[in-house]
Amino acid sequence: MKRLFSLIVLFSFFQSAAQLKPSDSIRLENLLKQMTLEEKIGQMNMYTGNIFGDDPVFTADFKYDDLKNGRVGAVLNVNGIKNTRLLQEMALQSRLKIPLLFGNDVLHGLHLLFPIPLAEAASWDIGLMEKTARIAAIESSARGNNWFFQPMVDITHDPRWGRVMEGAGEDPYLGSLIAAARVKGYQGNKLGDTNSVMATAKHFAAYGAAVGGRDYNTVDMSNQELWNVYLPPFKAAAEAGASSFMNSFNTLNGVPTTASSYLQRDILKGVWGFKGFVVSDWGSVGDMIAHGYVKDAAGAALASVTAGVDMDMEDQIYKKQLPRLVADGKVPVELIDDAVRRILAKKFELGLFDDPFKFIKEERWQKAINNPAHIATAREMAGKSIVLLKNEVPKGRTSPVLPLSKNVKTIALIGPHIMSVRENLGFWSPWWPDDSARIITQYQGIKNKVSRGTTLLYAKGCEVSDTSTAGFAEAVRIARQADVVIMSMGEQYDMSGESRSRSDITFPGVQEALIKAVYATGTPIVMLINAGRPLVFDWAADHVPAILYTWWLGTTAGGAIGDVLFGDYNPSGKLPITFPRSVGQIPIFYNHLSTGKPPKNDSVAYYRTGYIDLMQNPKFAFGHGLSYTTFEYSSLKMSDSIIKSGESVRVSLSVTNTGKVSGEETVQLYLRDRVASIVRPVKELKDFKKVVLKPGEAQTVIFEITPDKLAFYNEQGKLITEPGEFDIMIGSASDDIRLKGKFELEG
Ligand code: GLC
Repeated sequence: MKRLFSLIVLFSFFQSAAQLKPSDSIRLENLLKQMTLEEKIGQMNMYTGNIFGDDPVFTADFKYDDLKNGRVGAVLNVNGIKNTRLLQEMALQSRLKIPLLFGNDVLHGLHLLFPIPLAEAASWDIGLMEKTARIAAIESSARGNNWFFQPMVDITHDPRWGRVMEGAGEDPYLGSLIAAARVKGYQGNKLGDTNSVMATAKHFAAYGAAVGGRDYNTVDMSNQELWNVYLPPFKAAAEAGASSFMNSFNTLNGVPTTASSYLQRDILKGVWGFKGFVVSDWGSVGDMIAHGYVKDAAGAALASVTAGVDMDMEDQIYKKQLPRLVADGKVPVELIDDAVRRILAKKFELGLFDDPFKFIKEERWQKAINNPAHIATAREMAGKSIVLLKNEVPKGRTSPVLPLSKNVKTIALIGPHIMSVRENLGFWSPWWPDDSARIITQYQGIKNKVSRGTTLLYAKGCEVSDTSTAGFAEAVRIARQADVVIMSMGEQYDMSGESRSRSDITFPGVQEALIKAVYATGTPIVMLINAGRPLVFDWAADHVPAILYTWWLGTTAGGAIGDVLFGDYNPSGKLPITFPRSVGQIPIFYNHLSTGKPPKNDSVAYYRTGYIDLMQNPKFAFGHGLSYTTFEYSSLKMSDSIIKSGESVRVSLSVTNTGKVSGEETVQLYLRDRVASIVRPVKELKDFKKVVLKPGEAQTVIFEITPDKLAFYNEQGKLITEPGEFDIMIGSASDDIRLKGKFELEG
């Protein structure tokens, strides 16, 4: 064991040295030599600031004392320039003057709020997601935050899980691209640049597979499922240079991830060569007692530090238990040195030893939060996150409901979110009051678009989730007077998020009854659905002619919604996660296995993997999203139909805008490995291209099917490729395949 730990330390010495300037590497080693054990363990200890306000910044005096005596390495939830400066000054009173890291959950912007991450994922615009991450870093790094607990890269198949709003949906390929983009956005060109902050890939690992979608719940899965579905976005984040990883609250196959040497040492720090440090989630070290994995705090500290958790968030277990464990020889000091070296290396990389106050600059803060280009980016991202689920010709009309004319005579605005302010921002946006003046409500967004001759009528109709129908009559009355109704329905902002799993993901309260009452007037309805997750709205989806999924779009929500409603932006969003027909259909996802009895249709018994009381397919499929125009796919060509190992297949096709307005299409490439030693999904997203086309314009789209796109992990976590036939499917959605082909990989 001792030899193993010496190897770990040697490895980490060279790793941290590898990423630092030689002078900083020498400074780090000299500093480490001077540190007492208590000071070393202090670097592995993180405290939270006052999450209920900014004064006092710590709610317990011992935290101040620990800070001044070098027993704290990082803090989180400390906001504002005054408090950040205060704590940094205290940290510099310690003997060795080691500066603090300041972490925060800047999930989708700090002051200026972008769409929630799941909404951004619906844009499939990787470059734009990197850009919004960059802006969040520019803002936050001027206000003291130099460490984001983002990106959250958990794949999930379960929309009952409240944290689905934090991630990128169900697909490993899309999730991996987004993970890397966000890491690059946060960290910029390199750590140490003025507005570069550390990124954290979380929650490591498989947190999104909690049984029943119930937060913090148990996770059990095969190794090949872990490697092929849940680990790829983490691997992508590590390869993109993420500075830290955060472990998750769940057990994985009976072991709390906080104590998983397999995840943290074998895979992350071993196979993937991760040079940063691992931070526990809030109290996840101590949680191991409740898990029944250890009997006491000493056991929790031993299990965590041995498994590779370098920093303990908020539960003081490392601070209280590690000194004794080291004294008793149960934790070799080399392990402590490895953890401390990793943490200090990041502080040197950030430049904190050269200027501990570099991230606390009022003038930079003011410049960042008043940059019109940032607002424009937020509005662009909000528009691109909107998914047009449906847009049909209502009874008695000759054209689809959307886009609306700006000269409509009378519009009835109905629903609990038409006037909402806070709701547009979703969960994990605690600092929203700082920027509340700039939030564009949906009402305002619509009002800004329509002509002076348009009359806007408004009735809330109902609350988000109470039982009163008292507002129905007024809603019905104004619907009857209008040429079109816009209804804005959905969740409360905090019905999705951490510890917000829901057993029933239909519209809360009496919303569906309100929709039915307004529908009965016969006035065509456009419905906006605001939520942090896929909701189940079977009746509305079958009856309402036009539906836009508007998630939680952030500060510019109303503006972006107005842009789409009135055609100033032609919606291009595509679902990053499957929408089930009912809760009973969960889990349902596109990249499933075939089974031995693949469904023929809904009526053939014994050949269905669905239910006798429900259609087989989901309500809306992964990759689904309509446009105000139409696109035709044609002329599929392949460079080869038989390839050898290591060779690629070039696929080209033509995409034509066959409608009357310009639009953006996300052309999706799916593959199926027909026969394999571990059966492969019926289709897997392996590439996509976004094309913007004017009416009548055609563009050639080219995909390179490279060898890596044919590989999969076996149960040992080894990436392998097996010869055989591969199907090519190219389409506008996973259930809207327009062109097919196939090729063979020779043995
Ligand atoms: C929470 C979350 C984690 C977050 C951390 C700090 O419990 O699980 O995502 O970053 O604590 O707020």
